[in-house]
Amino acid sequence: MATETSAIDMQKAQGFALRIVGEITSNLIGTLHLVGDRLRLFETLAQRGPLTAEQLAAEANINERYALEWLSAMACHGYVEYDDDAKTFTLPIEHAMVLSEKDSPFYVGALIRTQPDFWANADILTDAFRNGGGVPQSQFGGEWRCGFERFSRPAFVNNLTNHWIPALDGIHDRLLHGGSVIDVGCGNGQAAIQLATAYPAAQVRGIDIFPAAIESARQNAIDAGVGDRVRFDVHDAAEGLPGSYDLVTCFDVVHDLPRPGSTLRAIRRSLNPGGALFVLEFNLSSDLQENIDHPLGMGAFGYAASVNYCMTTALAADGVGTGTCLGERRFREMAEQAGFTSVTRHDFPTNPFNLFFEVRG
Ligand SMILES: C[S@@+](CC[C@H](N)C(=O)[O-])C[C@H]1O[C@@H](n2cnc3c(N)ncnc32)[C@H](O)[C@@H]1O
Repeated sequence: MATETSAIDMQKAQGFALRIVGEITSNLIGTLHLVGDRLRLFETLAQRGPLTAEQLAAEANINERYALEWLSAMACHGYVEYDDDAKTFTLPIEHAMVLSEKDSPFYVGALIRTQPDFWANADILTDAFRNGGGVPQSQFGGEWRCGFERFSRPAFVNNLTNHWIPALDGIHDRLLHGGSVIDVGCGNGQAAIQLATAYPAAQVRGIDIFPAAIESARQNAIDAGVGDRVRFDVHDAAEGLPGSYDLVTCFDVVHDLPRPGSTLRAIRRSLNPGGALFVLEFNLSSDLQENIDHPLGMGAFGYAASVNYCMTTALAADGVGTGTCLGERRFREMAEQAGFTSVTRHDFPTNPFNLFFEVRG
């Protein structure tokens, strides 16, 4: 008995217990982050700060008692800074870039809007663990999609037409002079809107299997002033693409596809001579150990996102359920099986969180 007890590292157990308390705290902070985002509290702090709780309550039109408790939690958790003499709270500019500046390259805080649906779907997910199947995409509502849209949009605004497409052999010139491009799995349409804005002579389309996304994309295009220059349709890319293109783009889509083989073959058939497929994926590996040792610590995010959404929605559609951690090796295998003859990886230093592939042949 004595030997068994001494084999247990109590410090390690205590350290892990503290870590789990920290993780639960992060979950609790998540609700406060969500409410803060919904009520634009981060924007208010960024624009009007430093603010006392009373001032935030007045500026944001919220209850003062809640303002103080929210700010206190945010200060303890390090989202905002507190001045004990002045009793004021500040959102540092570096944190505002993450939480409230919608065009900033680090604007990732909007992902919090995806969290309520993950929790709301926990019963369906538990059932899928027992019986197979998954959580259908229809279980993810407008707040989820708009949260994801706000997360993916800044990379399109900052990079798509001035860094990514110019890196593809000959494509930028084709689009400038009236070529054609389709964004497959366009979601709420932000990438296609950037394409239509930067390449007014090109034919720009977006397709998505999810009708609510296409409705949002159409409205977003009108709001951006390019409603007449981009066409959005509900369409399953695995059934074949409508038309032929100089460029097909898939942003964070290939690993989500229920039928990736048929879809990649359909994309290949739709390419004009000299055309290319451009793929963005999360910078994850096809190999579990490499994801455990991931230099940016993204492995847990990848598998958790996979179970909560990417693998799960594909399994719900009777798909293969590739999962978020597709990685370079498995993507190259998929592309080769679909008949493509060349996959070139591009690395963009301003986008360390993503993998980029130019696919041809
Ligand atoms: C993670 S979202 C990415 C959305 C968008 N590209 C972005 O980066 O914001 C993946 C999208 O792929 C779409 N999708 C999945 N399978 C599809 C298919 N077979 N045909 C068309 N769209 C599909 C989903 O409906 C979803 O909108």
